[in-house]
Amino acid sequence: MSPKLNLQTTIAGIDFRNPILNAAGVWCQSTAELDTLLTSSAGGAVTKSATVKSRLGNATPRLKSLPLGSINSMGLPNYGFQYYLDYVTKQQATDQHNLILSIAGLSVADNLTMLRQIQSSDYTGLVELNLSCPNVAGKSQVGYDFAAVADLLATIFTFFDGKLGLKLPPYFDLHQFDELSAILNQYPLAYINAINSIGNGLIVDPLTESVVIKPKGGFGGIGGNYVKPTALANVRAFRLRLNPTIKIIGTGGISSGQDVFEHILCGADLVQIGTALGTEGPAIFERVTNELSDLMAAKGYQNLADFRGKLKTL
Ligand SMILES: Cc1cc2nc3c(=O)[nH]c(=O)nc-3n(C[C@H](O)[C@H](O)[C@H](O)COP(=O)(O)O)c2cc1C
Repeated sequence: MSPKLNLQTTIAGIDFRNPILNAAGVWCQSTAELDTLLTSSAGGAVTKSATVKSRLGNATPRLKSLPLGSINSMGLPNYGFQYYLDYVTKQQATDQHNLILSIAGLSVADNLTMLRQIQSSDYTGLVELNLSCPNVAGKSQVGYDFAAVADLLATIFTFFDGKLGLKLPPYFDLHQFDELSAILNQYPLAYINAINSIGNGLIVDPLTESVVIKPKGGFGGIGGNYVKPTALANVRAFRLRLNPTIKIIGTGGISSGQDVFEHILCGADLVQIGTALGTEGPAIFERVTNELSDLMAAKGYQNLADFRGKLKTL
């Protein structure tokens, strides 16, 4: 990286020397995996979305890598909330602040329980509330029920004064961005993260005439190249509508420096890699960072702010 290039970015006062992290659920279930991320070229790490109690998740096979991306129906396998809270708190005590604690309660009560525990703990870092897991049988994605999101935020902000971000599902209608942004703009959110997997896709293997994952009859969340245009649209649509104090994490379809560049051009402050990290492993962070640096150098950009959100329209 040229000495003049600066990839630094900040969310709610938390500095990241590099804007590229893992996406929740990939390479982050165990503390060993999280340690690997923190010693890689990644800018930090997000923990696996935690439920109050540990979960084994759905039946296998539950993840399939495909030429253009992935389909998964993991069902939130995780070691339980306390495991991840202990990890981020321990890291914070050693001055490692570039972490995001992801939580995904199976009910409103579970989400409030975890947020209350965070509020009364020593952890003061970023928290990502996942409102968009498409893969728990019998549970719908809260992010598609705007009245429920409004109620939840109204309750949360009666007691929570930490650094809260929301992981959102993809939206497809411009009216949805208007409606949801009007709700989100009423609260001191640190950020939104767009997007989670595109829910309930179906991949068909014509050879075996079968689905490729077992849970839910083969329906699962789609990630990777398939989802990049939807992810970019969500980042852009929210950046045009949200208060500037609410930052944006761009997730979806990133596997190269150019993909990162496009997300930032649409307005992302930070980006996350899911599917491609799963197939390539943590070495991806060095490659993608170098590609982003080369692209910025070729264009004469020295900081992310030089092009963030500056997408041109015709
Ligand atoms: C195996 C797998 C597990 C995932 N688990 C979670 C999770 O626990 N919490 C979450 O917010 N998103 C989860 N996701 C979604 C990703 O964080 C990401 O939003 C999505 O895959 C789109 O990014 P990508 O195109 O880089 O894969 C998971 C994705 C995959 C592929």
